[in-house]
Amino acid sequence: MPGQGRIRVDVLTIFPSLFAPFLDEAMVGIARRKGAAEIAVHDLREWTRDRHRTVDDAPYGGGPGMVMKPEPLVDAIEAIAGAKGPERKAHVVLLSPQGRRLDQAGMETFSQCEHLVLVCGRYEGVDQRAIDLGVDEEVSIGDYVLSGGEVPAMVLIEGIARLLPGVLGNPESAETDSFQARNQGLLEGPHYTRPAVYRDRAVPEVLRSGDHGAVARWRAERAQERTQERRPDLTGARGDPKR
Ligand code: ADE
Repeated sequence: MPGQGRIRVDVLTIFPSLFAPFLDEAMVGIARRKGAAEIAVHDLREWTRDRHRTVDDAPYGGGPGMVMKPEPLVDAIEAIAGAKGPERKAHVVLLSPQGRRLDQAGMETFSQCEHLVLVCGRYEGVDQRAIDLGVDEEVSIGDYVLSGGEVPAMVLIEGIARLLPGVLGNPESAETDSFQARNQGLLEGPHYTRPAVYRDRAVPEVLRSGDHGAVARWRAERAQERTQERRPDLTGARGDPKR
């Protein structure tokens, strides 16, 4: 699973066209153009064998919605990643609300993979046999339910792309972002740029003082304060149980 900073990502989806502009623009586009990431998107329907290119079916046991069929999914995963087992080099991730919740540490781990295969779930779920036979890990981007794994796959790709060596213009900036180790897992404080006064609101004097030590202390205090207020769980303190 570990790579040397260059990553190959294959996305498996029934909506490949959702990815085109996302992969060409901004940080992800830069990562691809610099050769730090090679990303391919595959249409799951290419692995169907019937005239209607069927990827889903009714759930056994009844209930609402449809379930993704195992055959096209497992065939596609095996074609892209190889059969599941100790020989397989690729790490196959199913984006699903049932997965382990993604955080910045998870992003860092994924960014060190050599080959990631992102399977976008749709409908009410995925046949469990396809998960057992093809998927290494299920990942959720948060405790809410979307209609499919496409946006979660984009979240993962964007989070990874900005961590790849040589992708960020300023290599320092990733390290001061919220949740990064350098920031001791705290949120960032407020940021300001010119003008110094905007609609009667002045930039805090200390930031214009030129005193780097005072600026660093002020930023550390604001980070503490904001984290305490908004995310007490990140400070190790327990939040208000009633909220
Ligand atoms: N698919 C639907 N909801 C999702 C979520 N929260 N995370 C990952 N994949 C999903």
